[in-house]
Amino acid sequence: MNIYKPELMEVVEIIDETADTKTFKLKFKDTDAARNFDFKAGQFGEYSVFGEGESTFCIASAPTRKEYIECSFKQVGKVTTALRKVSIGDTIGFRGPYGNHFPIDDMKGKNVVFIAGGIGLAPVRCVIWNVLDLRDQFKDVTIIYGARSTADLVYKRELEEWKNRSDIKTVVTVDPGGEDAGWKGEIGFVPAIVEKAAPKAENSVAVICGPPVMIKYTMPVLNKLGFKDEDILTTLENRMKCGLGKCGRCNVGNVYVCKDGPVFTYEQIKKLPAEY
Ligand SMILES: Cc1cc2nc3c(=O)[nH]c(=O)nc-3n(C[C@H](O)[C@H](O)[C@H](O)COP(=O)(O)OP(=O)(O)OC[C@H]3O[C@@H](n4cnc5c(N)ncnc54)[C@H](O)[C@@H]3O)c2cc1C
Ligand code: FES
Repeated sequence: MNIYKPELMEVVEIIDETADTKTFKLKFKDTDAARNFDFKAGQFGEYSVFGEGESTFCIASAPTRKEYIECSFKQVGKVTTALRKVSIGDTIGFRGPYGNHFPIDDMKGKNVVFIAGGIGLAPVRCVIWNVLDLRDQFKDVTIIYGARSTADLVYKRELEEWKNRSDIKTVVTVDPGGEDAGWKGEIGFVPAIVEKAAPKAENSVAVICGPPVMIKYTMPVLNKLGFKDEDILTTLENRMKCGLGKCGRCNVGNVYVCKDGPVFTYEQIKKLPAEY
């Protein structure tokens, strides 16, 4: 068996999230592969454009929805530029799932606070839908999401759906100056909005993903609110190649982010080598 051989996936839907970000809905072409495929929230895959290469993206859909997978990607370089040219009905490659996952079972019975910035909502969205599909097994659910401007908000249709639900609290913000004329959400940077929303820390777990600067300034706010480092989870996006613990591309000290991660608690991240 060739561990690098991708499954063939048909692109069945494409959503333009922003000017540079798209979401693909993918279906396995092989019915056995479709039937046998299973994953957990937080895992990732290697997505390939034949003749161009592979890129690492999280699986952005929830494991509770079996009949397809979704990925959302921002155009930054070679493979993501090639992916942007893909159309509905085209075939791309996928191998995975790889890596560890969010501890959904340990989160049951707790309040869950999701904090995301920009395209960082993609890995968090997978956990959000997993939690919402099992809503009665969790206590309070809070979603705080920010982007630079209204044009940069991803998953707009889901943000509306979440805002309209009475069993979750959803706060959406844009950076000062990023609002358009009709904007009804918050205006401010994510750390300040987290402080304002003040989710309770007792019996709570926080899931955070976004640009490093957002995380850097949100962490002290969460600590101030009473969240302990072991109750704050994030997912790292170190550059990867094999995704399988073979090539050493992703390692930080003695940690292989592709195998030991990508999901880590802040307690674990603080123990990683200083250069990280
Ligand atoms: C576990 C994991 C999950 C990820 N999930 C997503 C996701 O859901 N959506 C998404 O859009 N992206 C995600 N990424 C980042 C994504 O893998 C890269 O942006 C992508 O591979 C770039 O491919 P490319 O060929 O277009 O860019 P390249 O041509 O390889 O590079 C273009 C530019 O992007 C930079 N770059 C490439 N990869 C990374 C990286 N991992 N981190 C920082 N800079 C990088 C390069 O240094 C270069 O400047 C994830 C990465 C990891 C490791
Ligand atoms: S990506 Fe190859 S070892 Fe992690």
